[in-house]
Amino acid sequence: MITEAMGLRVMIAGLGPMGRGIARVFARAHAEVDVVDISPEFTEAGLEKIRAEAEADREPVVGVSAAELAAVATADLFIDAVAERMDSKCDLLAQVARLAGPELIVASNTSSLSIGELGQAFGDPSRVVGMHFFNPPTKMRLVEVIAGGRTSGKVLARARRLVDALGKTPVVCRDSPNFIVNRICRPLYYEAQLLLTQGVAVPVVDAAVSGALGHPMGPLTLLDFTGLHTHLGSSETALREFGDPRYRPIPVVRSLVRAGMTGRAAGRGFYDYAAEKPRQAIDKAVQAPAEATGMRVVAAGPDAVQLPETSGSETLTLYSCHRPPTEFDVAAVAALSGRVVVDSADGHWLDVLPAEAGWLRLHRSPRDELFAEVVHDELAGIRPTPTVTAMLAALRATSVEVLALPGLVAERLAYCMINEACAVVEEGTASRADVDTALTLGMNHPQGPFELLESVGAAEVYTSLRSMAELMGDPRYRPAQLLRRQSLGAAR
Ligand SMILES: NC(=O)c1ccc[n+]([C@@H]2O[C@H](COP(=O)([O-])OP(=O)(O)OC[C@H]3O[C@@H](n4cnc5c(N)ncnc54)[C@H](O)[C@@H]3O)[C@@H](O)[C@H]2O)c1
Repeated sequence: MITEAMGLRVMIAGLGPMGRGIARVFARAHAEVDVVDISPEFTEAGLEKIRAEAEADREPVVGVSAAELAAVATADLFIDAVAERMDSKCDLLAQVARLAGPELIVASNTSSLSIGELGQAFGDPSRVVGMHFFNPPTKMRLVEVIAGGRTSGKVLARARRLVDALGKTPVVCRDSPNFIVNRICRPLYYEAQLLLTQGVAVPVVDAAVSGALGHPMGPLTLLDFTGLHTHLGSSETALREFGDPRYRPIPVVRSLVRAGMTGRAAGRGFYDYAAEKPRQAIDKAVQAPAEATGMRVVAAGPDAVQLPETSGSETLTLYSCHRPPTEFDVAAVAALSGRVVVDSADGHWLDVLPAEAGWLRLHRSPRDELFAEVVHDELAGIRPTPTVTAMLAALRATSVEVLALPGLVAERLAYCMINEACAVVEEGTASRADVDTALTLGMNHPQGPFELLESVGAAEVYTSLRSMAELMGDPRYRPAQLLRRQSLGAAR
């Protein structure tokens, strides 16, 4: 089959992990690939690494050659994968413009820099497009295709077809700081760090996110893996470009970076790798259910959920109420006191929870298992009651103990991400469908934010964010107007 990439002459500049991986991806699709780094020695060394990495994956590389920049004169496509600095990328593109033919398309793999500005540096912005591969490019299917303000429709369409021809999935994105995946994950990372500063332990955050939301890696493990300095750089870009205080970095990450504790590669980040691997710490935070003792669990409340079949002589009631509690809810729970557990992540329950009632938030994980965040907060005087333990045992639910903070852990992170996704769509950066594709392929999340919004309901997310905004008074929780409109529209 002849594809768009077959016989295409591609030059890739920058042989870090991204450039090397991208070179292999084009070679697989039968393009003729020239690679170049800052000197002939660096280029040769980069090519050697490409061969060694391919060999380790048992995949011979054919059609990749070392070149000098002048060879761009005969190329159809130039890919910038040099270090993430605007000045070096601009210098390089200005050189390429002097050497290239009139049909050359320029694609940049930048994670955060403006495609419009790179287009200006090249001199013909209509031929410059973003092609943001994910790490490692040989394995990750997603490519964000970014249209600068003056990228031509023809060049954008060509870039999409090329991504298809590479066997990958393109999502289209307007030129906006952090593009799609890194932008929508911003609140995931910020909220995870804020929880630490509010007293939640590192593995508890990761355990709650993996258990309740099914993310393959918790946000703090992931940040350690990516490198905290890289994350801090993207956060500073977001704050500077949007000028909105909700993007301000969390001080804890700045102190870690300043102390050289930049994550897994440095041996120390949120986790201390000399002491324990994240997986071990997370496993310790998660509690398996106790032996079942013959209890019947029934569901009640305005958000009553379908529970698995349980039987026994004694009845326990799970009172589900996800919006801020009303007088009716408080009275209903008080009437059942002693055998009732409140199922909610709303922080207002802290004000009104009857003394004998337990408090948790029950989630059905994407693998259809029950997982609970159990509120255990000595300072706030809330402890897991025997009813909570008996209920978890009867439901065979695993759990993690969390503090009585607004949104607890999982809902706070998930809803802030949904809110950011709504802002991305509202401002026209990407479509809902592309946002979902980007988060499922780029982050391996089991659901995209709009699929999650669909299943939870816009009103629920909107109300929860307003409740968090009220209790925490930070613009981070300000709901997007699109969410408010959708939530009210659904009720009409
Ligand atoms: N690392 C990631 O996870 C990741 C993911 C997606 C996108 N990106 C983006 O991809 C690009 C490259 O990332 P990386 O992690 O491979 O970078 P890196 O810093 O590890 O490697 C960059 C390479 O570019 C070379 N280089 C620098 N200036 C050059 C020039 N003028 N001409 C030719 N070569 C030059 C360097 O010698 C080095 O080999 C960056 O824009 C980055 O933001 C990175």
